[in-house]
Amino acid sequence: MRPGQRSLLLSSSSSLLLRSLVLLSLCPRGQAVQAENVTVLEGGTAQISCRLQNYDGSIVVIQNPRRQTLFFNGTRALKDDRFQMVLFTPKLVRITLTNVSVSDEGGYFCQLYTDDTHHQVATLSVVVPPEVPSVEVKTEAVEGGEVELTCLSLRSKPPATLRWVRDRREIPGVISQQENGKTVSVSNTIRIPVERKDNRAALSCEASHPALVSQKRVRHYSLDVHFAPTVKIVPPQGILREGDSLSLTCSVTGNPLPRDIQWSRVNDTLPERAEKTGNILHMSRLSQSHNGTYLCQAHNNYGRAADHYTLLVYVSVAQSHPAIAHPNLPSSKEYQDPGAVVETHSAVPFAVIGGILALLVFTVICVLIVTIWCSVRQKGSYLTHEASGLDEHGEVQEAFLNGNDASQGKKEYLL
Ligand SMILES: *[C@@H]1O[C@H](CO)[C@@H](O)[C@H](O)[C@H]1NC(C)=O
Ligand SMILES: *[C@@H]1O[C@H](CO)[C@@H](O)[C@H](O)[C@H]1NC(C)=O
Ligand SMILES: *[C@@H]1O[C@H](CO)[C@@H](O)[C@H](O)[C@H]1NC(C)=O
Ligand SMILES: *[C@@H]1O[C@H](CO)[C@@H](O)[C@H](O)[C@H]1NC(C)=O
Ligand SMILES: *[C@@H]1O[C@H](CO)[C@@H](O)[C@H](O)[C@H]1NC(C)=O
Repeated sequence: MRPGQRSLLLSSSSSLLLRSLVLLSLCPRGQAVQAENVTVLEGGTAQISCRLQNYDGSIVVIQNPRRQTLFFNGTRALKDDRFQMVLFTPKLVRITLTNVSVSDEGGYFCQLYTDDTHHQVATLSVVVPPEVPSVEVKTEAVEGGEVELTCLSLRSKPPATLRWVRDRREIPGVISQQENGKTVSVSNTIRIPVERKDNRAALSCEASHPALVSQKRVRHYSLDVHFAPTVKIVPPQGILREGDSLSLTCSVTGNPLPRDIQWSRVNDTLPERAEKTGNILHMSRLSQSHNGTYLCQAHNNYGRAADHYTLLVYVSVAQSHPAIAHPNLPSSKEYQDPGAVVETHSAVPFAVIGGILALLVFTVICVLIVTIWCSVRQKGSYLTHEASGLDEHGEVQEAFLNGNDASQGKKEYLL
């Protein structure tokens, strides 16, 4: 390098005015070149421009950061199709570089091949926006414990900013950066306590970067909180009698959801005709041999659970009258009191008595009316009739007034 070159290279970092002054002072013939810095997205196209002043037809050479000549006065020198010369005028020489990668970064030299060799450096900077980050589960989420999650952005330049967000609030985490050649890998690790209710809670990790402006690359993550199963047998409604069929449903929760559910009968085997389909135990044509305590059990890696149901089969209604009078009922809530059945049966005779009573009262009234009518016709005398009529039929009237007592007597008799 000549001393003149070095001072020119240094001047590239000074202001345009200062540089112009230096150029003028160093170039007696006034011929000069200026380069512009370029920033481009990875994969994009860079335009490298060299501005010429007082160009007099000298040879213009463009070199890459490794000082290999790309173009020699407009002629391609290096075999790399990504470089194209797009402009060569006395004022401006411009080349393009497509599919820019971080390895293309550096200073591109615009050089005038004159007696006093001048050059300028255009610095190409490549920006790498982050991809959508990934989430790694460092510690599994188990009910009552803590989950450790790492959000990872493998490549960015300059480093991306990672934030964990839940319900629009940032969860503070531990951020670390690792340089990987020219790009940086960034991670943000959080630890949060988890309960069963947090299962499927929505979290997100947002990567922001100058190249994305105000946009963000977001990874959604839904918490997977593991917990032991719970088991509940849904009991049938009402009494079960011989010949009925029964479907017991075992409702199971748990994460992971237990895959197989075991049905069994305490101190006994399951009845022969019992069918298991998924979480349902079906028994058709029940008999008293089905009596017993049935168990539904489920387990996953985090624990096990069971629920039981006590089945009592009663004799069918047709043959039930003697048996049902005093059944030994379990205190279980799922049974109706068979006493209610007894009541409905005895209610039938009461209805019959009611009807008889009504008929009786009606007859008494008819008899009364007919008797009064007859006595009026026999006496003929209007005045005496009224007084004597009352005396004469006092007995009947009394009977009528005491009708209720009489009918109650009847009822007792009927019973
Ligand atoms: C061009 O980039 C280089 C290296 O980053 C820097 O030193 C120089 O000041 C920049 N020039 C201009 C004109 O911005
Ligand atoms: C360099 O290229 C320019 C533009 O094509 C031309 O005007 C000039 O004469 C060339 N110089 C030499 C020395 O060939
Ligand atoms: C761009 O360059 C990368 C390597 O830097 C290469 O894998 C990719 O295929 C190139 N893409 C095109 C469209 O040439
Ligand atoms: C099962 O058998 C044991 C021992 O014989 C007894 O203690 C228990 O009460 C029985 N359980 C049922 C539900 O019958
Ligand atoms: C089944 O339960 C019913 C109702 O408690 C009872 O009447 C019957 O005797 C029981 N049968 C057997 C075989 O245990």
